[in-house]
Amino acid sequence: MFYGLSKFFKQLLPKQLFYRGLLIVALPIILLQITISVVFFDSLWIKTNIGMTRALVGEIKNYITSYNTESSDKNFLENTFEEYLEIDVVFFKNKEFKDKMNERWYSPIDRSLRRELKSKNLSYWFDTSKFKKTVNLKIQTQKGYFEFFIPRERLTSTSVRIFALWITLPAILIVAIAIIFLKNQTRPIKKLAEASKKFGRGEKIEEFVPSGASEIRQAGYEFEKMRKRILRHLNQRSEMLSGISHDLRTPLTRMKLQLALLKDKNLIERFSNDIDEMEKMLNEYLQFSSESSKEQNEKFEFNDLIKDIIVKFNNDIIKFNEGDQFYFNGRKLSIRRCLNNLIENSTKFAKNIEINLNNLKSTVLITIEDDGPGIPINERGNVFKPFYKIDKSRSEKNSSVGLGLSISSDIIKSHGGRIELSESKLGGLKVIISLPF
Ligand SMILES: Nc1ncnc2c1ncn2[C@@H]1O[C@H](COP(=O)(O)OP(=O)(O)OP(=O)(O)O)[C@@H](O)[C@H]1O
Ligand SMILES: [Mg+2]
Repeated sequence: MFYGLSKFFKQLLPKQLFYRGLLIVALPIILLQITISVVFFDSLWIKTNIGMTRALVGEIKNYITSYNTESSDKNFLENTFEEYLEIDVVFFKNKEFKDKMNERWYSPIDRSLRRELKSKNLSYWFDTSKFKKTVNLKIQTQKGYFEFFIPRERLTSTSVRIFALWITLPAILIVAIAIIFLKNQTRPIKKLAEASKKFGRGEKIEEFVPSGASEIRQAGYEFEKMRKRILRHLNQRSEMLSGISHDLRTPLTRMKLQLALLKDKNLIERFSNDIDEMEKMLNEYLQFSSESSKEQNEKFEFNDLIKDIIVKFNNDIIKFNEGDQFYFNGRKLSIRRCLNNLIENSTKFAKNIEINLNNLKSTVLITIEDDGPGIPINERGNVFKPFYKIDKSRSEKNSSVGLGLSISSDIIKSHGGRIELSESKLGGLKVIISLPF
């Protein structure tokens, strides 16, 4: 039960760190403001209003009673009332007011005034909204009616707006400051995530400068150290391999020259075949390592790239099911090389080839299927190894090197993608490539 509840809350909560932080800061402030406002409004403001209204109505009742006493000095009473209480009063002798009450039910001032007047058994009419600073009140007696003009501040303390202002202004200020601080705190994390994503995809990134709080800075330093170590490792590997390949070319050329001096024709042919194959291997590898290290990312349309590759094969056995128009940011030449290798493999073994392109939410999915002999499950891991060929007789006639799949897998992985082999519905091999973007 609690698991379900916490899952529900997790779904409700914002996912981003910035908004979570903001919620942590803003929620208590908002709750506090609401509580203070409710307490103030209910127990202070309304209660004060009721007290003030009660006192005022008492004074008015007192005035009316004194005025209606036969022996009273009406002028004196009126003057003192107006002077000391600042309430203007007019008496309309033997008259009845005809006005209809226009009471606002939602107004707390009207409500408390009505309640107090009713409790004193007075026949009344009032309007609190006609004048801005004055409340108009009429009270009927047997001898005529009184009309009062009462200053509004005698009925209510006017500070409610100022209070509301003072309570919301600092809250807005605190939340604004929190937003600025949180933005600054989450920016370095975003930067780090962005850099890791780029590095994972194999994009070139500038030197990463850690910033922010010490823990985030630490993570940034560690990331940068790791990135440099991996780069050094990769460079070392390809430099060493291309060095070896390069150095081997000289003795190979020398061997070729020496072959010419041999007499046995049969031997010459077998040797030169082997030497040619070795040369091809070295050239292939050298080309790959020089291309991939230099190339920069660029934006290109994926469908166009595949169509372009297919055209080069110049045959009708390839069927391409296009995806939506889609621009990908990557090393175009490398990806072209990768797809080229895969399609070339299929054309070697199959009569029908089908290529599909689909762009999903955050990945592009490419499948290449054929109706050739396929690759048995136990060989699927091995074919990605450099210079690995399944069986010699299969590929001997094609003079293959055994580097195609290993280079393709390298290219896809350096873009942060995945490459997998499985069975095709056509009967042969299915290569599935997914590239994130
Ligand atoms: N579509 C396919 N159908 C059946 N077998 C395949 C297919 N693609 C590759 N293979 C097998 O996997 C092996 C490795 O392929 P890879 O492309 O790495 O090398 P290659 O094609 O022999 O040489 P290269 O591509 O370097 O000229 C191939 O020798 C072949 O036996
Ligand atoms: Mg190949």
